[in-house]
Amino acid sequence: MLELKNITYQPQTGRKIILDDVNLTIKDNEIILICGKSGSGKTTLIEIISGLTDPQRGQIIWKDKVISSRQRRWLCGLVFQFPERFFLGATIGKELKFGHKSIKEIKIRNILNKVGLSNINLTTPPEKLSGGQQRRLAVAVQLLRNPNIILLDEPTAGLDWSMKNDVKDLILRLSDENSIIVVTHEPELFKDLTSRKFLLTTGKLKKFGG
Ligand SMILES: Nc1ncnc2c1ncn2[C@@H]1O[C@H](COP(=O)(O)OP(=O)(O)OP(=O)(O)O)[C@@H](O)[C@H]1O
Ligand SMILES: [Mg+2]
Repeated sequence: MLELKNITYQPQTGRKIILDDVNLTIKDNEIILICGKSGSGKTTLIEIISGLTDPQRGQIIWKDKVISSRQRRWLCGLVFQFPERFFLGATIGKELKFGHKSIKEIKIRNILNKVGLSNINLTTPPEKLSGGQQRRLAVAVQLLRNPNIILLDEPTAGLDWSMKNDVKDLILRLSDENSIIVVTHEPELFKDLTSRKFLLTTGKLKKFGG
């Protein structure tokens, strides 16, 4: 279980408090949704959880221990919004091998199976994949790091309807082994996966709906 206690964040360069005493608990294998207007601080919140940013105040607790940003980076796999823009590898194989030089092909195949890319040719350039397949590849990159918590920033943005459903099915499958935090503008798409929805507004995180 991951707990956020009294998280407050104000960027060094900004006057506005982005997160104001945010509290949240995420259980193992749970899927939660975070919604909110553009600029409300959703990306900031998941960057803090993932250890890319430190809050000014508050604690993040994992299995009853306060964890540092470094520990959070190990614990979390963050998939940015439009992750396909950040692919670096000339091929799918190379993309997956970044930071895992001696990884065995069997492990790569195992992860690709998990994200529904089982028969893919590893020498294909990532940009040859469909939009939904690219999102799944970005998830595979994170799964190779074996995270406990997966955070997805607008995973269905810019996808057509059938690809949105593919990504949604993947999220459901990932929750067999991980806790999942999904930032989304379309909570209704995920309504059969979870009823734990939160709205971020003027720095406050509030439960809403179901
Ligand atoms: N380093 C920074 N310095 C100053 N302001 C910042 C900084 N980082 C983020 N902000 C501000 O924090 C607020 C929240 O940004 P954030 O990207 O978290 O919003 P968001 O909810 O993810 O928006 P969107 O839905 O558009 O992705 C914005 O008003 C942004 O301008
Ligand atoms: Mg954002």
